[in-house]
Amino acid sequence: MAKVYVTRPIPEEGIDLLKSKGYQVDINPEDKVLSKEELKKTIAGYNGLLCLLTDHIDGEVLDAAGNQLKIVANYAVGYDNIDVKAATERKIFVSNTPGVLTEAVAEHTFALLMTVAKRIVEADKFVRGGKYKQWEPMSFLGPQIWGKTIGIVGLGRIGSFVAQIAHGGFNMEVLYHDVKKNPEFEMRFSAKYKEMADLLIEADFVTIHVPLLPNTHHLIGTKELGSMKQTAVLINTSRGPVVDEVALVEALKNKKIAGAGLDVYEREPELTPGLVDLPNVALTPHTASATNEARNAMSRIAAENIIAALEGKEPPNLVK
Ligand code: DGY
Repeated sequence: MAKVYVTRPIPEEGIDLLKSKGYQVDINPEDKVLSKEELKKTIAGYNGLLCLLTDHIDGEVLDAAGNQLKIVANYAVGYDNIDVKAATERKIFVSNTPGVLTEAVAEHTFALLMTVAKRIVEADKFVRGGKYKQWEPMSFLGPQIWGKTIGIVGLGRIGSFVAQIAHGGFNMEVLYHDVKKNPEFEMRFSAKYKEMADLLIEADFVTIHVPLLPNTHHLIGTKELGSMKQTAVLINTSRGPVVDEVALVEALKNKKIAGAGLDVYEREPELTPGLVDLPNVALTPHTASATNEARNAMSRIAAENIIAALEGKEPPNLVK
């Protein structure tokens, strides 16, 4: 009987699917991230591993699993936590969950953008703190979103869906930067391709949707933040290390930019000192994909990838 290990409890949909195939499915009973040593000990002898973005899977972990391991199925679209080269060398498939969390992450991007623009965190604190004594004609002023310019960095599925919301929902001018131009996208959303430096100068809202790769690490640092408008807002729902968080805290403190909405952090779950003291930031704990719909589908897709691999087929969402 094939054996699958799941590193944290996830929605039942995928688990039930794996069990329906007659597999032994073992789930980490403690709802906490396993250390590398714990992971190495635990996964020995399994044929499939369903892991999370908080599990760091490298050659050493894969060797500890043993050569019966056929697949590492990530419960995420991003897979920077897995050494894909090491897995491929060992003839182990790696898969992810693209497509099913696009809407959830794009919605969250806009939730953060609106929270910062409308100063919801500060206003909520004000009301809860019993400070709302009279209507204020001059307090909590912020930028209108309608008709402003959004700069989308990375035009994958999520970046494109953010553009759709921005264009259709808020009449925003859409600028984008990516490794390649997309004329069809430009036509659909009246979008303009910009070099990164120009996008940063021109956008009122800059939102990041690139994977974490060696060339996207610290894509946004002191220089880039310094070139943005002083009234601009930065949103990051991709991966924390894409933004130099120390530089971001400095830029926010020194009012180089107006605000930031972050779902991901450079050393998450640790935060750069000073970040939580800033009034002009909205912070969420990597919950952009946390809708019932997205998480159920992620669970199902991870399971489907495992089933394919254990049946000797290429998983539908193979990453190379
Ligand atoms: C992903 O799937 O990569 C997301 O970051 C999860 O929220």
